[in-house]
Amino acid sequence: MIVGGCDIGSTTGKAVVIKDGEVVASHILKSTTSPGKTARLAMDAAIEQAELSSIDDLEKIIGTGYGRLKVPFAEENISEISCHAKGAHWMEPSIRTVVDIGGQDCKVISVSGKGTVSEFVMNDRCAAGTGKFFEAMARALDCGLEGISALDNQGPEPCPISNQCSVFAESEVVTLVNEGYDLKNIISGINASVASRLSSMVRRVGLIKELALTGGCSKNEGLVKSLSSKLDVGVITLPIDPQLAGAIGAALFAAEKLGK
Ligand SMILES: Nc1ncnc2c1ncn2[C@@H]1O[C@H](COP(=O)(O)OP(=O)(O)OP(=O)(O)O)[C@@H](O)[C@H]1O
Ligand SMILES: [Mg+2]
Repeated sequence: MIVGGCDIGSTTGKAVVIKDGEVVASHILKSTTSPGKTARLAMDAAIEQAELSSIDDLEKIIGTGYGRLKVPFAEENISEISCHAKGAHWMEPSIRTVVDIGGQDCKVISVSGKGTVSEFVMNDRCAAGTGKFFEAMARALDCGLEGISALDNQGPEPCPISNQCSVFAESEVVTLVNEGYDLKNIISGINASVASRLSSMVRRVGLIKELALTGGCSKNEGLVKSLSSKLDVGVITLPIDPQLAGAIGAALFAAEKLGK
């Protein structure tokens, strides 16, 4: 049984191929201006990696994410909230809370023992606490996202960042740089500020252990550490790239719908 999942987000496209209950191929790329093109590029790369001859070898494909209605080859589409819950729970069945931090959205999802969504909250059409916020900070610091990740909360005295709005926070960070604050302390402050926002979203849903992060921003280790310390709970490291959780969930739904 071979199925596919395609998650077309605001920032990246993700595709996975699952064969007999195992992820055998995946691909992540930056979104193009056309969601349909992003989906084709992502799925073609995953099909090649899985050494399949064509997309017809996949018995069913489900689309998810912001651009899910535009995935040309998907027979059905399912919300990314359900797909992230399912994908993360499949990777680690003890997961009951998922924090998905993507390029433009952050969502906190309460997950049942069966991997379905019990409850969720999401950010309100604002870049605060998302990848866009980190991208604005990386621009202000001229260090790239890798620079933010690499410095990983090494600053012992985090600079307080008072603005939640990414536009104002960007100017605030430029001011801190000009005033001579250590880059490490500024980055620790940025991670602490996003973690604060996320932790209040988690409290709104109600924290049930175990907790995992999905989405591209879960690769920022400093953010993961800050959130873990604010919530006073360990964060489970998923065994497969957490940015793929939504696409994996979509492929699992495809397998379920085939009755396999
Ligand atoms: N190695 C990394 N370290 C830190 N952040 C990263 C890394 N890789 C990706 N990101 C962040 O992940 C974000 C993209 O995440 P993701 O692919 O989950 O978004 P998306 O699904 O397209 O967005 P959304 O779900 O909001 O529509 C980027 O904005 C970037 O900030
Ligand atoms: Mg997403």
